[in-house]
Amino acid sequence: MDATILVNRTHRLPRKAIPQTLVEPEIIFDAPVGDRKRLLAVSAAKGVEALFARGKEEGIYLCGVSGYRSYERQEELYQKKRREQPKETGDPVHWIAPPGASEHQTGLALDVSCQAVDYQLDERFGETREGRWLKRCAPLYGFILRYPKGKEHITGYGWEPWHIRYVTRSLALYLTLTGLTLEEYYEQK
Ligand code: DAL
Ligand code: ZN
Repeated sequence: MDATILVNRTHRLPRKAIPQTLVEPEIIFDAPVGDRKRLLAVSAAKGVEALFARGKEEGIYLCGVSGYRSYERQEELYQKKRREQPKETGDPVHWIAPPGASEHQTGLALDVSCQAVDYQLDERFGETREGRWLKRCAPLYGFILRYPKGKEHITGYGWEPWHIRYVTRSLALYLTLTGLTLEEYYEQK
């Protein structure tokens, strides 16, 4: 899969789309050894190792929570969420991606957290020192914060300060300079 691929509710991946090579980055994970959520595509794994190492030098300790997710795993999570939160009562922008519509299937996305929020994936992470550092420094290592505040109507998801997506250093810097989401970038092209 190309590192700049657009995946969302309208650009879905087929069930059989699996990254060619998945590796475990040398970072700390809040996930059991052997769990497939510790895997990433090679480019994303290299980028996140460098990003987290840089953080450590600056006293920023980031922890990986969830990386690769297969189509089938996303299907399970999606069904579970639907059972827990019927459509009529939920805000659709905050919903988990339907199967095929999650960037986690590409192996290029990683959910990140830190000790200050007990390694949870919630909006409080965005206010921590770690969350703010991540937003500032991730582009230098090829990552964007894929679901920013204020762009919910474009990305189709709520603000997720913990979800980083590898898109190459060149594109990450461009999107940061222009303030464009991946959706807007592809619309402009
Ligand atoms: N929460 C993100 C959008 C996902 O399910 O991939
Ligand atoms: Zn995520």
